[in-house]
Amino acid sequence: MSILIGIDVGTSGVKALAIDATAGSTLASATHELDLETPHPGWAEQEPEHYRAAARAALAEVATRLGPRRRKVRGIGLTGQMHTAVVLDAERRVLRKAILWCDTRTTAECARIEQALGRDGLRRHVGNLALEGFTLPKLLWLARHEPELWSRAALVLMPKDYVGLTLTGEVGTDDSDASGTLAFDSAARAWSEPVLRAVGVSRDLFPAAGPSTAVLGTLREAVARDVGLPAGIPVARGAADNAAAAAGLGVVRDGRAMASLGTSGVVLVHTDRHVVEPEMRLHSFCHAVEARYYLMGVMLAAGGALRWYRDTLCDGEKLAAELRHADPYELISEAASTSRPGAGGVVFLPYLMGERTPHNDAHARGAFVGLTARTTKADVSRAVLEGVSYGLADSLSLVRELAAAGTAPAPTEVRLTGGGARSPFWRRLLCDVLEASVCLTSSTEGPSYGAALCAGVAAGCFASLPEAADALVHVTSRLEPEPSLSARYRDTAAVYRALYHDLAARFRELGGIDAS
Ligand code: XUL
Repeated sequence: MSILIGIDVGTSGVKALAIDATAGSTLASATHELDLETPHPGWAEQEPEHYRAAARAALAEVATRLGPRRRKVRGIGLTGQMHTAVVLDAERRVLRKAILWCDTRTTAECARIEQALGRDGLRRHVGNLALEGFTLPKLLWLARHEPELWSRAALVLMPKDYVGLTLTGEVGTDDSDASGTLAFDSAARAWSEPVLRAVGVSRDLFPAAGPSTAVLGTLREAVARDVGLPAGIPVARGAADNAAAAAGLGVVRDGRAMASLGTSGVVLVHTDRHVVEPEMRLHSFCHAVEARYYLMGVMLAAGGALRWYRDTLCDGEKLAAELRHADPYELISEAASTSRPGAGGVVFLPYLMGERTPHNDAHARGAFVGLTARTTKADVSRAVLEGVSYGLADSLSLVRELAAAGTAPAPTEVRLTGGGARSPFWRRLLCDVLEASVCLTSSTEGPSYGAALCAGVAAGCFASLPEAADALVHVTSRLEPEPSLSARYRDTAAVYRALYHDLAARFRELGGIDAS
């Protein structure tokens, strides 16, 4: 038996997962939670030391659960939150708290980057827009607001790379995480000198990048002793969480896509070639799969919108769920299923946190539109689930436009992950709204599973990530769209799409009133 471990340095916690390299089954897992600090509105920070400590604790717990089988661990793979900046000095000491992917303090810096490079320059050199969440704007913010600290900065790592450094003593990242910095030329798989020169940031701050399946280093003796795993096993560079999640679902070749229904929502489409959407509404990044890429749309509130709805407007459902020992989400879905497709003419816009894809508008707000005296709670619940589904469909439509123009592969199969995928009602709804085959797979562990597959390649158990995924990941259920229902959703989706444009200016006005 060979065992592979994946470590996911997420936003809410660090998870370690051990899988059987032959059967693909989960043998043990452990999660240690992380705190999120918001010292100012829109800021999000974490202590890098907590990444290190949580990763160690999770590894040690997994080793304990494996018992004597721990000796069979062949390798460790890394994954984690994208874009987050961990800043170190020349002695590799942490200089400040990490600034996270969901931190929005860098609007002015994004404008500066866009001014320095122009949209054409961004398209040519990095294939992505300058967005608040990405890493490079965070570095310009530090240079401007914390110049003394910035003058001592010698190295910028993503959270998984920082954990990799503590496990192996080696500095490095992988191409998929490097692509999320806005300083990496994904097409060339190299740091972009023109971008860094234009904004005055030194290339030396960034670690060497390499394939996700390549070895970063080996597990240090002292750490191995500490956590109870074999010393000297390879630690794979691993991948950005979305790339790793996709690899772990088997989204490793053209035609396959992932839809993730977590707090945020993601649609990720594998592409053999490097593709940039002309207006860069989709992110264009290197995949964890060797020499491959992906296009990705990100919704900031997907499951998060449903949670807001549950916590703000569903006290009755929460109480009823408590009495029935059920999950309030089940009751919301149950009620939604009694309304009709189109939710009785009610449309929900899920832009509770602004929106990335397709609008890239931090001022966008949520809305219920189309309420009448006949509207029921069931209609409203259904509208929430439909609205999030239309948001995901927006991202998939952008890829389909590229496919129609012959520049991207047509996505035919969408593999689901994230908490929302557990709801049979939502899966059916998504299938009809996305108008694609919607599948569940044998692997349900998220990014850590993909990281374990990277470890499998680094350790020599598999020749490539597609080989690993083909061997271990299987489709366990498949839904096909029902044409008559898809047609009904298409009508409502058209209204949903128009509503954002109708309301965009009003959202800005409301934001101004809210701030005053
Ligand atoms: C992707 C993104 C998030 C983080 C979450 O661009 O910002 O999905 O990767 O960890």
